[in-house]
Amino acid sequence: EVMQKAVKAVLPHLPDRFVPGASPDALRDRHGLLGEAVARVDGPLKVQGRARFAAEVDMPGMLYAALAFSSIAHGRIAELDTSAAESAEGVTLVMTYRNAPRMQPPSLMMTKPRAAGASQLPVMQDERIHWNGQPVAVVLAETQEQADHAKSLIRVRYEAEPADTDFHAAMAHARVPDTVLGEPPRVEIGDAEAALKAAPHSVDAIYTSPRHNHNAIELHGVTVAWQDGKLRVHDATQMINGTAWTLAEVFGMKEEDVHVSSPFVGGAFGGKGLWDHQMLAAAASKLAGRPVRLVLSREGVFRAIGGRTTTEQRVALGANEDGTLAALIHTGCVAMTPHNNCPEQFTFPARHLYATKTMLLEQKVADMHMVANTFMRAPGESIGTFALESALDELAHRMQLCPVELRRRIEPEKDPSSGLPFSSRHYLKALEQGAERFGWDRRHAVPGSRREGEWLVGLGMATATYPYFRMPGGAASITLGADGSAVVQMASHEMGMGTATVQAQHVAVRLGLPLEKVRFEYGDSRMPAGTLAGGSSQTASIGAAVIAAHEKLLERLLELAGRESPLHGLKAEELDAQDSGLCQHGHPDRHESYASILSRAGLAEVKVEAEAPPPLEMQKYSMHSYGAQFCEVRVNAVTGETRVSRFLGSFDCGRILNARTAASQFRGGIVMGLGLALTEETFFDERSGRIMNPSLAEYHVPVQLDVPAIDVIWTDEPDPHSPMGAHGVGEIGITGVGAAVANAVFNATGKRVRSLPVTLDKLL
Ligand code: MOS
Repeated sequence: EVMQKAVKAVLPHLPDRFVPGASPDALRDRHGLLGEAVARVDGPLKVQGRARFAAEVDMPGMLYAALAFSSIAHGRIAELDTSAAESAEGVTLVMTYRNAPRMQPPSLMMTKPRAAGASQLPVMQDERIHWNGQPVAVVLAETQEQADHAKSLIRVRYEAEPADTDFHAAMAHARVPDTVLGEPPRVEIGDAEAALKAAPHSVDAIYTSPRHNHNAIELHGVTVAWQDGKLRVHDATQMINGTAWTLAEVFGMKEEDVHVSSPFVGGAFGGKGLWDHQMLAAAASKLAGRPVRLVLSREGVFRAIGGRTTTEQRVALGANEDGTLAALIHTGCVAMTPHNNCPEQFTFPARHLYATKTMLLEQKVADMHMVANTFMRAPGESIGTFALESALDELAHRMQLCPVELRRRIEPEKDPSSGLPFSSRHYLKALEQGAERFGWDRRHAVPGSRREGEWLVGLGMATATYPYFRMPGGAASITLGADGSAVVQMASHEMGMGTATVQAQHVAVRLGLPLEKVRFEYGDSRMPAGTLAGGSSQTASIGAAVIAAHEKLLERLLELAGRESPLHGLKAEELDAQDSGLCQHGHPDRHESYASILSRAGLAEVKVEAEAPPPLEMQKYSMHSYGAQFCEVRVNAVTGETRVSRFLGSFDCGRILNARTAASQFRGGIVMGLGLALTEETFFDERSGRIMNPSLAEYHVPVQLDVPAIDVIWTDEPDPHSPMGAHGVGEIGITGVGAAVANAVFNATGKRVRSLPVTLDKLL
């Protein structure tokens, strides 16, 4: 009854995109090419320097742009002197709010189907300042150096107004948001506070996590041109169609008159959406009447692109003598702005992971004057698992229970907050396999008891989890040639994770073609609509569109095959794709090649296009990926320095479609998690709201010597309810890593660090 109530509470709040559907995919159990460690098809282009990125596109007459940023957090521009910049050598235009073309504010992401705005503030339309780092002027010049110099000549006098730049002060008037990514901000099952008080064992602690900034290798860059009232955009983006739609909205145009392409992206972890710089480049180009290239400097990315926001989280756990949970409380607050909607869903892991008698989850936001925060690899889940999985480790220690054993005792039979059945959950298998391979049984239960010279050695583990998402509205086309080749198109994204390779494998297997006969084309808004590359959703989203197009292709081929074909009389669902053609299921001899079907029909090719069915599966099932992260650290007893000496991630993400690209995704996520655990921190000056370390010299991401060889394994259990039986693999790698490291540090030293990053000052 409690569960049913919880389901009723949650369902009406589900966003429109979560709608039921999708029948089991026959390929989910097919091994062979699907799953193989195929090398990336875009690899040679990249290592030979032939992949052309957004800021490498050359256009005749192109101007170079530089941005000037505000130096106050809140207030207005009182005086603006651009004369020196305007008369500087090579300068053709200085654009400020005084001469910028009128633009509509962009619609916020997730408020409309293709809205992509990271913020809904108007862009350079008035003298108002909303954050320290807001672009206040765009300079266009004949060279980048001239633009950069001229922008330094701009003089601005501000009238500052009181600003919310102190997180703790802002928390005093925190608000509960309407939703957290479409889910209710509060989940309550039973009386968790009372159960916590009554429980024989409990922990109750506050965990904090700092701001993080996006630092993809490729800087945010865009090259734009106007022609006959139409806008051409070469962008580095993970939302091609969203960018086209939203730019059209901003400039009052038709969506089809904005042509966005983004064939290569040099890394994007949630940060490459639609920000001010694309709109400003387009506006300045319109004003100047010439093409414009705008690349943010590394500092510019810190000023103008939001990242992960700061949190303060409380996790309280009450346990019975047998280790089952009587109460699970996870509440807290994040810094946000009134003009965006990314409240870091840090309570999402607790909604779905563990069996508990009572539950209280609540998220609040504290509005601050800062750049709009945004998605950053497993937003919410990465830092939510830091708090939750640290607290479980504290509970296990208090109960003198092995942390792995504790997780066995709280494994749920169905989703603890929604009551829905799991579509596919093999967490315990991943946990056991990981523990076995890592040598978890060699862990000393007593903290601080293993020392090698100056070094204290400890082991820690934590659960990883990330939801399965499939986005609606994607469509794919398949063009099948009489020569037995296939080209599949969808306006999707290759950001280095292997999309093009995996989908080529997928299409080859689905159509029964050799891999070298298949090409997956992506990265252009003129192709059938793609979905965003975010939420680890893209592989499933593309997969579903390809399946829909393939169903249509089979119907079309049966029509074309006609009475003379050995396939005559068969229905589409009786067909298997095999040997560059089709046969009756289970009867490989009753076969006709595509070449034969097409040539008899007198066609050089056949082309079909279809839209993916709505992702109904997400309403029927609790769909998540799982993993267990195992870490060994060595902490120097003299200096407090922490070195990660071994790491293993054991994942349960449905079918793995390419062993090489998936392993790289897992490792990449874990490396980013090591940064989250030990080094990454944006220093936000709470007096001025200014980011004080906007460079890779002062914002520390892990480098080679910080990262040990990382072992990754997986269950490879297909999900019966997802396309190809697969789940996303992009974001889960970072989840749980912060806690695995902090728990290992506790095991090594006996010191519990509840605030990220775990720097040496916290260990001395
Ligand atoms: Mo990911 S944070 O959805 O790019």
